[in-house]
Amino acid sequence: MKNIETICICGAGTMGSGIAQLSAMAGYQTIQFDVNAAMLDKSRSGIEKNLQWLVDKAKISPEEKQQCLQRLVFTDELANCSADLVIEAIIEKKEAKTDLFKKLLAINPGVILATNTSSIAITEIAEAVAAPQHVIGMHFFNPAPVMKLVEVITTAQTDPSVVNTVVMLAAKMGKTAVLCKDAPGFIVNRVARHYYLEAMKLVEQNLATIETVDTIMEVSGFKLGPFKLMDLIGMDINYSVSNIVWEALGKPERLTPSVLQKQKVDAGELGRKTGKGFYAYS
Ligand SMILES: NC(=O)c1ccc[n+]([C@@H]2O[C@H](COP(=O)([O-])OP(=O)(O)OC[C@H]3O[C@@H](n4cnc5c(N)ncnc54)[C@H](O)[C@@H]3O)[C@@H](O)[C@H]2O)c1
Repeated sequence: MKNIETICICGAGTMGSGIAQLSAMAGYQTIQFDVNAAMLDKSRSGIEKNLQWLVDKAKISPEEKQQCLQRLVFTDELANCSADLVIEAIIEKKEAKTDLFKKLLAINPGVILATNTSSIAITEIAEAVAAPQHVIGMHFFNPAPVMKLVEVITTAQTDPSVVNTVVMLAAKMGKTAVLCKDAPGFIVNRVARHYYLEAMKLVEQNLATIETVDTIMEVSGFKLGPFKLMDLIGMDINYSVSNIVWEALGKPERLTPSVLQKQKVDAGELGRKTGKGFYAYS
């Protein structure tokens, strides 16, 4: 197992920010990298707010909050991303992820390259870099500081010590790691596709309203109705995942991405992160 002291989280959006908080809270020196400085500022203030909430609830002490913040560095310079392990949570585009991994490997030989992708084949990402044995899927759920599950996705080439290191890391972050095969959508996103797509079909076919579908599913026991969940996830990310899973499975009719969701993406109504999705947020 590799000794991990410094973790670099790439992407400071919905997922990257939560994962950086987890990393710092688990005691690791944490570098948060994003190409967008405004996202880094937003992530820093979001993490501070979350830690303060934990202090107010007496879940951590004010000293622990301070120590946690001291372990965090925010940067938009790739040259500062010297780490033992990387967790990337940037946009859901294969070329963006492989390009980033190649650059990180060049400055960090031997680094473990974990990807938080929801749907891109880990094997394809691994094959694009010079050290495929160091590439692994580490798929957190939203919101990362709260959700207990982490899917750990291995390929035929993943080094067993990389798997052990990532499973240990998930445990140190308070998560339950489940080993998954590198299949389209892994496990959760494969099952969940129908939750989103069937809900949008009902609305597209004028059979129910957004509010009705959400209310019924929540009353049935789901924590969030499908439309509220898509707003939380981010419409662009969810739509990309739908397309990638659909294409990887040979474009089955039942998994055809939704026109309604495409319209939302085209309109820039991405959900909570833009203030408007299926619902409006202030
Ligand atoms: N949103 C979810 O619910 C969810 C859940 C699990 C996994 N994921 C996965 O996590 C990843 C990130 O999703 P998100 O919802 O946090 O996205 P997001 O849109 O909230 O944030 C993405 C961030 O990546 C940054 N970025 C883009 N290109 C970059 C690059 N080349 N280098 C560094 N930073 C870059 C952007 O500036 C942005 O801040 C995706 O792969 C997604 O599939 C998302």
